[in-house]
Amino acid sequence: MLLKIVRKMINIAKSLKLLGAPFLIGFVQGHAYLSEEQAGVVKRIAETGDNRDPEDIVSQYEAAITSVIGKGYGLSFASGRMAFFSLLKVLKIGPGDEVILQGFTCSVMPNAILRSGAKPVYCDIDKDTFGPAAADIESKITSRTRLIVAQHSFGIPCAIEHIIDIAKKHGIFVLEDCAITFDSAVKGIKVGNFGDAAIFSTDHTKPLNTLIGGLLYTTNQALYEKVRFYSAALPQLDKPHQKRLYQQFLFERKYYQPIKFKQANFLNYLNLIKKLGYAYKPNFVFLGDDYGRESSRSYPYPAKMSPMFAQLGIFELARWDKERARRKALLSEYLRLADNTKIKEYLPKAYFDQSLDIVPLRFAMSLPEADTMLEKMKKEHIEVAGRWFLDPIICCPAGVENLGYNKGVCAIAEATGRHMVNWPCVLPAGWDERILKIYKKILETYI
Ligand SMILES: Cc1ncc(COP(=O)(O)O)c(C=O)c1O
Repeated sequence: MLLKIVRKMINIAKSLKLLGAPFLIGFVQGHAYLSEEQAGVVKRIAETGDNRDPEDIVSQYEAAITSVIGKGYGLSFASGRMAFFSLLKVLKIGPGDEVILQGFTCSVMPNAILRSGAKPVYCDIDKDTFGPAAADIESKITSRTRLIVAQHSFGIPCAIEHIIDIAKKHGIFVLEDCAITFDSAVKGIKVGNFGDAAIFSTDHTKPLNTLIGGLLYTTNQALYEKVRFYSAALPQLDKPHQKRLYQQFLFERKYYQPIKFKQANFLNYLNLIKKLGYAYKPNFVFLGDDYGRESSRSYPYPAKMSPMFAQLGIFELARWDKERARRKALLSEYLRLADNTKIKEYLPKAYFDQSLDIVPLRFAMSLPEADTMLEKMKKEHIEVAGRWFLDPIICCPAGVENLGYNKGVCAIAEATGRHMVNWPCVLPAGWDERILKIYKKILETYI
């Protein structure tokens, strides 16, 4: 108890100190770019509904996002994990079955497998892509393996062609996990179109931000029809939950931008948001029940996407071409500046593979002196706490063992994660130049 109070005091002191900083660059950007009119549309849908049929809004969004991915079919859910769980159900994957996924992922993935009754089997990663190591996948295949998850990480496609070859040889279903990679391609084919199906996530940390959201995509019409039939009976999150998410949207729209993000931190720590008229219960709002192995009790699981999030997706997609170009240009600069520095050897080789078209979510590297670089980034007001995959399974309060992960099983993932550094690639207009300036200054110490 005392420790908890001390920790809280330290956090408050830290966030107080941060208030003096000129800005704070985080990984999540709110919807400050929406016009008042657009924000008004979101408000109307959240509060009363507008003059459209709510289902039409969701269908419009599904059609828009699916058309970016490819010629297949897309079905939205309240989250990526729920799309995955629904697929496992439709494929009748359950007790006695095994699902292979990499040990460099989010707890909600193995949790969906465990909730289906199947067993997650962890494979190691390939440090050149941060995706699964194809050879390790093959070594983990047994007569019980029903599905392989091929995760594309940080915007970088994994060795998907190789993985598909292995899966075909053994007759196993491949699900591409595109939660943290959207619109990247291998030899001109976009991720999501290689496997038997794919999931995408659009929660606020992801390439498209609908606060929470997920999509199942497949080019297999028969499979799509089955998932559609299954999902038709699913509920949405209840109204109070949606209302809280709307308040979160307002909060992030105002504060989740570099100039104000430090205030958001402070308000979050002090839990003052509620007093300001916003709700703040991040675990509940962002479906944090799914970090635990037990099935969620505070909201339906799985659930469908609600129209408010679909509308945010429509707005996100309307600006996507521009965003895509900006993020790619930012990656090119990150790479160009790393040339002739010591950093280059610690970058995943995929960044230099000409057959890949990478739309970055984060610029990721694993380097021995990660702590030094992170300290420097902190001093330059970049939020580093949110970097991903320090542990082989993140968002895992009960510990990785609880999800069937034995320490040491994915040795490369563990070593890579320990030294992980993430540079943001999702920024408001005008901030790309500023972050590049900081990056350049820090890189000068690595020449
Ligand atoms: C690699 C990976 N896969 C899947 C998911 C699930 O996405 P969602 O949060 O929409 O359920 C996440 C979420 O963070 C993720 O990081």
